[in-house]
Amino acid sequence: MASYLLSLLFLSLTLTLVIAEKPVHFHFYQHKTFSAPNPSDVRVAKGPIPLPVGPFSFGDIIVLDDPLTSGPEATSPLLGRAQGLDSVMNSLTVTWVFNIVLTCGEYNGSTIAIMGRDDILLRVRELSVVGGSGAFRMARGYVLVKTYSVDNITGDSELELDVYVYPAKL
Ligand SMILES: *[C@@H]1O[C@H](CO)[C@@H](O)[C@H](O)[C@H]1NC(C)=O
Ligand SMILES: *[C@@H]1O[C@H](CO)[C@@H](O)[C@H](O)[C@H]1NC(C)=O
Repeated sequence: MASYLLSLLFLSLTLTLVIAEKPVHFHFYQHKTFSAPNPSDVRVAKGPIPLPVGPFSFGDIIVLDDPLTSGPEATSPLLGRAQGLDSVMNSLTVTWVFNIVLTCGEYNGSTIAIMGRDDILLRVRELSVVGGSGAFRMARGYVLVKTYSVDNITGDSELELDVYVYPAKL
C-alpha cells in the first residue's frame, strides 16, 4: 500500500516536472485552397467512393501547405504554415497528420507536430499535439478546430484553430 502511494506520488511529481502548467495559446485561420491558380492543398490520390457532400472521396490523400493567418482574410498577417497530409475516411472524417511551422515572432522557426481525427460535421473538433521542435521540443497539447467557411463545390475552406501547447520543461 505504502509503495503504491509512493509510486503515485512519484508519478504525479514527474508529470508536474515534465509538463509546464500554462499552455502557450495560438489562434490561427487556416486557408485550405484547392482551386487554381494557387492551390495550397493538392489531392495526390483519388479514392474510389465519393462522399455524400463535397468533392471528396473515401481514400483521398491530400498534401497541404496552408497559410496560417491572424485574421480571417487571406491578406491578414501570416503567422506560419500548416504542412502535412489529410486522408479522407468513409464517414466525413479526415485523419490529419501535419506540422505547424511558425514563421514570425518569439517562436519563429519552431514547429508543433499535430495528429488527430477531424469529424467535419461537428462544430468543434479536437486534435492532439504530439510533439514539436525548437521551443516546443517534446511538447504536448491539443488543438480545437472550427470551420469558418466552406465551399462544397471546390472544397476550399477556412478553419479556425486554437492551439494550446504545453512546452516540456527540459
Ligand atoms: C524568421 O526566421 C527566418 C529564418 O531565420 C528569418 O529569415 C525571418 O526573417 C524571420 N521572420 C521574422 C518575421 O522574424
Ligand atoms: C456544405 O455541406 C455541409 C455539410 O453537409 C452543410 O452543412 C453546408 O450547409 C453546405 N454548405 C453550402 C454552402 O451548401
